[in-house]
Amino acid sequence: MIEFPVDFYSDTQTRPTAGMREAIACAEVADEQKREDPSVNRLQEMVAELTGMEAALFLPTGTMCNLISYTIHCRPGDEIIIEESCHPAQFEGGGAAVHARASLLLLKTETGIFSPDQVEQAIRPDDAHFAKTRLVSVENTHNIKGGHVWPLESMRLVAECARRHGLLLHLDGARLLNAVVASGTPAHEYCRFFDSCWIDLSKGLGCPMGAVLAGPHAFIDQAWRYKLLFGGAMRQAGIVAAAGVYALENHVERLAEDHAKAKKLAEGLARIEGIDVDPTDVETNMVIFDIAGAGLSRDEFLRRLEPHGVRFSAMLRPTVLRAVSHLDIPDDGVARALAAVGAVVGT
Ligand SMILES: Cc1ncc(COP(=O)(O)O)c(C=O)c1O
Repeated sequence: MIEFPVDFYSDTQTRPTAGMREAIACAEVADEQKREDPSVNRLQEMVAELTGMEAALFLPTGTMCNLISYTIHCRPGDEIIIEESCHPAQFEGGGAAVHARASLLLLKTETGIFSPDQVEQAIRPDDAHFAKTRLVSVENTHNIKGGHVWPLESMRLVAECARRHGLLLHLDGARLLNAVVASGTPAHEYCRFFDSCWIDLSKGLGCPMGAVLAGPHAFIDQAWRYKLLFGGAMRQAGIVAAAGVYALENHVERLAEDHAKAKKLAEGLARIEGIDVDPTDVETNMVIFDIAGAGLSRDEFLRRLEPHGVRFSAMLRPTVLRAVSHLDIPDDGVARALAAVGAVVGT
């Protein structure tokens, strides 16, 4: 296996820190399905408080958070309004169709952030020929379009439009805490517009796994049923929930370091001939860049980076790459990545 000491592939590449491993080793545990695991209960309370929701539920993955939410909110034949490159639209195996039996109406955007007008135009007329528009699903920060933060006012206007039309709202907060740290807006300020929301533990927070779904009591009661139904109910899950508690106590503020590294990386890449990137576009821990001018295919570019121990990820468009900063990027990681890219493209 090739080692990538400077691995900008994704913020999912982190390994638990020594402090997190200690928290895992010392975790108090019991049967989670009987709701007796103290570490799971503590994590759920923390996330309910953080998001300003009544209750929360620990789940193995963010994908399960999205799919359980969609299944609760939608009836078969319903339609979900969502931006075209959001995770459920691209990377969840068509799960919205499989589990919620709902279709997705995809909105086109440059940045992942859509407008109330786009929502308004996407809502189907109340006519038996059409799917029933049920839900608006929002991703904050937006992953594939480059870690953009939803401005609170844009979110408020979208939510207002959705409510006016009797629609429900769901927030994919895989990287909500990146938005919180970048904007200074507390999580509950974003979450108050939504019927359900969640945060991921296995991204910037650096846990080995897990996500926490939050919402009103009645929603979380239903989510418990689906947790069992989807096979996501565990036993002594406090072993991993303890990592989440540790991360919420120790790894939130430090996300600012990831954001600073991403910005520095973008500024350096912008100085390399053949690389097209706009550093002012970097709001959180992601950098999207285009190597079309470098005279190399993307596969060749990535292959040539391997001996330097540097990795990025390929995006949907053929010459575009993404770098994601996280807590396992070493202090000299940006400099090493820039030197490697410079060597690979011959500048
Ligand atoms: C925006 C977004 N939503 C959902 C997910 C799914 O999370 P998980 O990998 O925990 O299932 C991801 C994972 O990359 C993501 O980036």
